[in-house]
Amino acid sequence: MVSEELQKELRSRVAHAVTNREAAVDVMKELQWHYGWLTDEAVIEAAELLGLTPLQVEELATFYEMIYRRPVGKRVVHVCDSISCWAVGGQSLMAHLAATLGIEPGGTTADGMFTLLPCCCLGNCGEAPTLMIGDTLHGRVTPTRAEEILTAERQALSVTEE
Ligand code: FES
Repeated sequence: MVSEELQKELRSRVAHAVTNREAAVDVMKELQWHYGWLTDEAVIEAAELLGLTPLQVEELATFYEMIYRRPVGKRVVHVCDSISCWAVGGQSLMAHLAATLGIEPGGTTADGMFTLLPCCCLGNCGEAPTLMIGDTLHGRVTPTRAEEILTAERQALSVTEE
């Protein structure tokens, strides 16, 4: 259960949205941030906040790639597999990341640090191949650059956990 304060904040956002569904992604993302992923409990809470059924929230959650209905690592690495990125090495970038992290696409590292997921176009086609971690887009990602990004993310996480 999220705090009274967050519930109040989310109710306010829902009240200011044109439709409850419009606020759904916002609400799901906040609950996801709180729980680490959109747990069954979070789906029920989102449904209550949005005035929707849990099934309706479930349908919306499964539609959006950035909403996770199963546990994920502390950082989710989304690698674009749409046409522009695919054409300039997106597939080999994914393979390189998978080998570097020692997991298959869709997997999470044993230390719970990273989850690697393919995703649709991230709207950064001009700088393909692209990946996104958190809300940060990285374009023209070479294998070397990808390793630098992972190292920087590990360092940032270790600082926040100290
Ligand atoms: S195709 Fe990869 S960002 Fe658009």
